[in-house]
Amino acid sequence: TWTPDAFVETTVEELKKEIGSEKVILGLSGGVDSTVAAVLLHKAIGKHLHCIFVNNGLLRKNEFEEVLDQYQHMGLNVKGVDASARFLDALEGEEDPEKKRKIIGGVFIDVFDDESHKVEDAKWLAQGTIYPDRIESVSASGGPSATIKSHHNVGGLPDYMKLKVVEPLKMLFKDEVRRVGATLGIADERLGRHPFPGPGLAIRILGDITRDKVAILQEVDAIFINGLREWGLYDDVWQAGAMLLPVHSVGVMGDERTYEKCVALRAVESTDGMTADWVNLPYEFLQKMSNDIINKVPGVNRVVYDISSKPPATIEWE
Ligand code: XMP
Repeated sequence: TWTPDAFVETTVEELKKEIGSEKVILGLSGGVDSTVAAVLLHKAIGKHLHCIFVNNGLLRKNEFEEVLDQYQHMGLNVKGVDASARFLDALEGEEDPEKKRKIIGGVFIDVFDDESHKVEDAKWLAQGTIYPDRIESVSASGGPSATIKSHHNVGGLPDYMKLKVVEPLKMLFKDEVRRVGATLGIADERLGRHPFPGPGLAIRILGDITRDKVAILQEVDAIFINGLREWGLYDDVWQAGAMLLPVHSVGVMGDERTYEKCVALRAVESTDGMTADWVNLPYEFLQKMSNDIINKVPGVNRVVYDISSKPPATIEWE
């Protein structure tokens, strides 16, 4: 029978044998899969594993700093690369959801290629691919693989794509990855984290993206996610987040008439993201979230809750 301990033991031995003292590059996303893959490889080859964690400027509030700090505490050899400006500049004025995804995938490839060139004489590219990733086209685990073809079909593959590929989790399902992560001593909080899309807040800001909109949505999202944690609801939800709508509506604050933005909160139950139901969150909770968001986030005067299931709606709005 399969056990996480036995898996770790045999995989570490295999990785040592296969990689020897060659250098490996791995892109960390903050998600469960890349984190577990990194810790496993680190156990096998230590400092020969070079991790790269890119801030695309579209992560949750404080996520880059907090997660980078956690990675460093795990002893990983990790470089944090703040490329926010590069991503946000490239996205300027773009409203089309698929074009936004392409731009983000393309910039990620360029940034990752630049960084991987700085790791001299790297021989391997490690990926946190898990078994379902190899079957499904839609994956919540992030990564730019879907966009590589369209971005580089003229100029040829980026150099890091020519490295030998190592995917230590490729035979595992998500629950097995979590069990392996627990055996490796990764904190429950990281292993139980909701999925978060690779393009991040870009596909939760409907229409064009500006720095101001990102800042507003980060505040709203943080209130909602921290609220779920404080009310003990986080683990009842498969994925949650907020959408910034391209809508202004009239409100009133004191004696003043306002004309400001609207956000939609979304929380779903699911097993794999392919189908999903909206979560019946307590009214008192929704009431508190709505009050907090409108009172604390300048620029937002209306909050709605999304009660659409997938299908026919999708989880993200773009
Ligand atoms: P939808 O909106 O298609 O989302 O119901 C299903 C799951 O996939 C995630 N998602 C993405 N993940 N890149 C990603 O890495 C993307 O472009 C992308 N689009 C959606 C979404 O967050 C949900 O978990």
